[in-house]
Amino acid sequence: MRFCDVRLPVAALGLLICGCAATGRLAREEANLPKAQVNARGLFLENCATCHGRDGRARTIHGRLLGAQNLTDRNWRQTTSTAAVIHAIQTGPGPMPAFGHKLSESEIEALAAYVRTLGGR
Ligand code: HEC
Repeated sequence: MRFCDVRLPVAALGLLICGCAATGRLAREEANLPKAQVNARGLFLENCATCHGRDGRARTIHGRLLGAQNLTDRNWRQTTSTAAVIHAIQTGPGPMPAFGHKLSESEIEALAAYVRTLGGR
């Protein structure tokens, strides 16, 4: 039982972070597209939804384990700028992976704009 208590969650977390580190197919395909042509929702589902959920509410196992931000939260939305969202995607705050080298600049900008629409306009 002691093994399960400590090592299993740690191993699961390691796997989870490694799993999220690989660049997705859509991210590679759209890397050279201009921002307006990027499928931001598709990229969100591919790269972000495991933790933040398909709806951005972070009600997923990974999201709960890591404490992912609920992107629809009204207070968070009002106090967070688009620049801060872009910065977070590039650098990955806390346990969130950084996407600065996995996504192109236009993909990141399109994703940030998409994140801003979560929870309604
Ligand atoms: C492995 C899980 C995971 C994945 C994948 C992930 N995130 Fe996160 N994200 C987190 C966690 C955990 C936090 C909270 C980090 C903290 O504040 O310590 C977070 C925070 C954020 C924040 C809030 C930053 C702030 O300044 O308040 C934004 C925006 C965000 N993520 C966007 C995204 C986007 C967009 C993607 C996909 C490109 C993504 N995340 C992928 C786990 C993840």
